[in-house]
Amino acid sequence: MDFPQVGLGTMSIDDPAVIETALEVGYRHLDTAQIYENERVVGEGLADSPVPREDVTLATKLWVDSLAPDAVEAGTRASLDRLGVDRVELLYVHRPRGGYDPEGTMAALEAVHDAGLADRLAVSNFTPEQYDRAAEACSVPLVANQVEFHPLFQEPGVLEQARDRGYTVVAYSPLAGGEVFDVPEIRAVAEKHGTSPAAVSIAWVLAHDDVVTIPKASGREHLEANRAARDLSLDPADVERIDGIEREVELFPE
Ligand SMILES: NC(=O)c1ccc[n+]([C@@H]2O[C@H](COP(=O)([O-])OP(=O)(O)OC[C@H]3O[C@@H](n4cnc5c(N)ncnc54)[C@H](OP(=O)(O)O)[C@@H]3O)[C@@H](O)[C@H]2O)c1
Repeated sequence: MDFPQVGLGTMSIDDPAVIETALEVGYRHLDTAQIYENERVVGEGLADSPVPREDVTLATKLWVDSLAPDAVEAGTRASLDRLGVDRVELLYVHRPRGGYDPEGTMAALEAVHDAGLADRLAVSNFTPEQYDRAAEACSVPLVANQVEFHPLFQEPGVLEQARDRGYTVVAYSPLAGGEVFDVPEIRAVAEKHGTSPAAVSIAWVLAHDDVVTIPKASGREHLEANRAARDLSLDPADVERIDGIEREVELFPE
């Protein structure tokens, strides 16, 4: 799937005007989820924007209470209803927990896809082993695994698997929710390039093959800066320096 390099993570955004601003400054991938309780907000911002619906990749995620095989279709329809759309471009399993059963859930998702409610299917917070088991149970390709990925945390094996299987890693919390801002190595690289730690973190994430990202931002300045980080090209030495950071922060452990 052809994802924009930088999309918008919408967790905790509760104002449709932020979505409209994001679309205005060029975002074309909006990431929401049932558990964020803001699908209506995202749908309203999208509907109010002059950007055509067909130009936007809209993604939502089924929470663990919508993952039992007999709950998937109703859960998906409820999301579409809140979003005010008849389909999403991307539908995720948010976490392999709760009612998740690899064979049953994936068959139900396949049916939702075949019914035209979701153009593509994907998973989130899956280990490589969990990805393979889900992919085996589903004849529709799983085009992405959305995982926590930033200079202070990466899930072992996911990048390598993405390359092997041909899926995209959607990196969430690329700024570690703000934790990257005071890391000396990141600050030093930012100073060298005359930019911000936020831009360096996003550029570091994007320096990996098959990875796109979805920083959350709520004002025009951050929204624009995060997209502009696509143009920051880090030197191999910068990437190495950031790779060598020892501090580890996992914001969303299992
Ligand atoms: N699949 C999952 O399980 C999962 C879990 C967590 C998150 N996610 C997704 O990933 C998205 C992003 O993750 P996140 O919200 O945890 O954290 P994040 O994107 O790493 O960081 C967001 C924080 O950084 C600030 N910020 C953004 N751009 C900035 C900039 N250029 N300069 C300075 N500060 C900046 C934001 O403030 P302002 O809002 O004030 O701009 C906000 O406080 C979520 O919204 C969600 O869509 C998915």
